[in-house]
Amino acid sequence: MSVRVNVRGGAAPPGSLADYLKGVKVKLVTISGKGGVGKSLVTAAVALGFALRGYKVGILDGDIYGPTIPKLLGVTDQSLYVDSKTGKIIPVSGPFGVKVVSIDFMLPGEDTAVIWRGPLVTQALRDFISQVDWGQLDLLMVDLPPGTGDAPLTIAQSLQGGIDGSIIVTIPSEVSRRIVIKAIDFSRKVQIPIAGIVENMCCFVCPDNGKTYYVFGEGAGRRIAEKAGVPFLGQIPMDPVLSKHLDEGRLHEFLSTENNTTKHIMSIVDALASKYADKLKQEMREERPKRIALMKLPGEDEEEDQQRGTS
Ligand SMILES: Nc1ncnc2c1ncn2[C@@H]1O[C@H](COP(=O)(O)OP(=O)(O)OP(=O)(O)O)[C@@H](O)[C@H]1O
Ligand SMILES: [Mg+2]
Repeated sequence: MSVRVNVRGGAAPPGSLADYLKGVKVKLVTISGKGGVGKSLVTAAVALGFALRGYKVGILDGDIYGPTIPKLLGVTDQSLYVDSKTGKIIPVSGPFGVKVVSIDFMLPGEDTAVIWRGPLVTQALRDFISQVDWGQLDLLMVDLPPGTGDAPLTIAQSLQGGIDGSIIVTIPSEVSRRIVIKAIDFSRKVQIPIAGIVENMCCFVCPDNGKTYYVFGEGAGRRIAEKAGVPFLGQIPMDPVLSKHLDEGRLHEFLSTENNTTKHIMSIVDALASKYADKLKQEMREERPKRIALMKLPGEDEEEDQQRGTS
């Protein structure tokens, strides 16, 4: 039996929370020094792309004040539940089985604002790591709010060295270049290795003639990455059809169709999959359920020892 979760539920213990994500092979955060550049799109698209390639994926929506992941995935009508046996929060199952946790699932209405001070946000993020049954995952994507404030810091500090990489999202303008440098500086200071840069809205693909227009100049994202000395993961065009799918919570349908933008997104997914290939290949040790016995029968100890290969 499950009960609907209470937002102010159990408090996460202090210290590093990395142990709670032991079953997750690769943990990536999406950051940017600037708002509205497409972090949430990249988070959701990379997550769904990995799921399409057959990986087990989760998304932690770390944007407490402006959660958008449920909307992009079309699961805003869902709720989080607590498993009455384990006491853990069960993530919502999104498209392609992607596990999703967001504050949005706990709000009474679509337009409800979260008016919390920093410590409450910090606590909520820590709970999303420690109180959620993430299980065994190949990839956990963490979507972060813009900037280098409380939320990115909490995630970095709570997981102390447990994050495998940051995906820095930018748009191709000179102003963005400076902000990217700040995001790189932030990532280095909090000791999160940089997975690479994604250039969103690199160009505009005209739906009338299919031509690509580089509004800010071609290759800007790659140049930003080269100057900063970090990998370039790829680019995503500004695409009105993608935008419509995002607004309607049908990103998964968009990614299931053959089109130029999907090719770009899947190439970013493949770049990340090959970057973390070794970790993704690692065998996870399934936790064997403990046998509950009221009393041991004669010879049972030896039987268990033989199973463990110790006798
Ligand atoms: N490549 C794209 N083509 C079309 N629309 C896009 C593209 N990238 C993002 N958008 C749209 O732009 C808006 C901002 O994108 P998104 O929410 O992913 O940005 P964000 O960086 O997460 O914003 P915030 O800083 O507010 O969290 C959304 O409405 C999204 O649908
Ligand atoms: Mg966002």
